[in-house]
Amino acid sequence: MRYAILGRTGFSVSEISLGGMQLNGKPGFKGAESGDEAQALEAVRIAVAECGVNFIDTARWYHDSQKRIARALDGLEGGRDVTIATKVSPDTRAQAVRDQVEVCLRDLRRDHIDLMQIHSGTDREKRDATVPVLLDLRDRGMLRFLGVTMGYGPKVPEQAMACIESGVFDTIQLHVNVLHPVFARTVLPAAKRRGMGTLAMNPQCGGYLAKRCPDPARYDLSFLADTGATTMHEAALKWCVSSDCIDVAIPGSKNPEHIRSNCAVSNGRYLTSEQAGTLEHLLADTIDTSDDWDWTPNEDLEAMAGETL
Ligand SMILES: NC(=O)c1ccc[n+]([C@@H]2O[C@H](COP(=O)([O-])OP(=O)(O)OC[C@H]3O[C@@H](n4cnc5c(N)ncnc54)[C@H](OP(=O)(O)O)[C@@H]3O)[C@@H](O)[C@H]2O)c1
Repeated sequence: MRYAILGRTGFSVSEISLGGMQLNGKPGFKGAESGDEAQALEAVRIAVAECGVNFIDTARWYHDSQKRIARALDGLEGGRDVTIATKVSPDTRAQAVRDQVEVCLRDLRRDHIDLMQIHSGTDREKRDATVPVLLDLRDRGMLRFLGVTMGYGPKVPEQAMACIESGVFDTIQLHVNVLHPVFARTVLPAAKRRGMGTLAMNPQCGGYLAKRCPDPARYDLSFLADTGATTMHEAALKWCVSSDCIDVAIPGSKNPEHIRSNCAVSNGRYLTSEQAGTLEHLLADTIDTSDDWDWTPNEDLEAMAGETL
């Protein structure tokens, strides 16, 4: 496993880490199809103890994901040294924000949170109300660093840039991957220039590859042979870790073989910009995202980001 410095937090984090959404146990909740606790704890063990993952992303909103991560880490040698990023939902009510932070501290069994992110911080009014509460908690030692996350949608370029320019946030987590690469060319370079840490959520295209790759065997990935990537899932992660403006990719899974294969991508061999471009085109030409109501086309986002930057 290779490690990267997460911007001005100074944390040295595994470039492939673990997304905690899939670890929660609520049946039917996105990503938690089986809900099985033993499987979730084993997933954390494999990632941390076998594969060298030292950074996990979770959220108050992911039901019992935080509790499960704490339980898994408590049973592992060095588990307390794993850096945890979690999230609270933005809220105009200060007490509601403080209550969420209390739950995070209790569920994670820690006396401080390494990185507290505002979850889906595109609503400026709610975000602006939440920031002072979190800064106060940071000053009181309950939080070390502050970040913000944003998923899909047309508001993201403008609001992400506002967050970057505010200077308040130490990290930013965006929806960026080989199928949706636009933020790696627009918003994230601006974050890096300001010394922020950058996280790629949905590095496996949020399940698109698993659900929509018609037949992985139809892709000829021989042009990536020198990097060691042999499947489209490995190639997608390789794309993330090869980007200069992504510090850490956080694939979500509790499938042992998927976790091992994801972590093995971190082998020190990166894509050239030509290989990355070829991969983007290969997928863009074959996966149809037009029926997804939540998916803003790259060209639209690029135009919006272009106006903003
Ligand atoms: N707003 C936000 O802040 C936000 C939003 C979304 C996500 N996130 C964070 O980002 C993390 C990842 O996001 P995500 O789960 O949406 O996207 P993702 O990691 O891009 O995709 C996860 C999906 O990919 C599959 N997968 C992973 N590795 C695989 C492999 N090697 N081979 C085949 N399939 C593989 C998983 O299935 P299996 O379970 O079968 O492996 C799962 O269905 C989350 O856990 C969460 O921490 C943050």
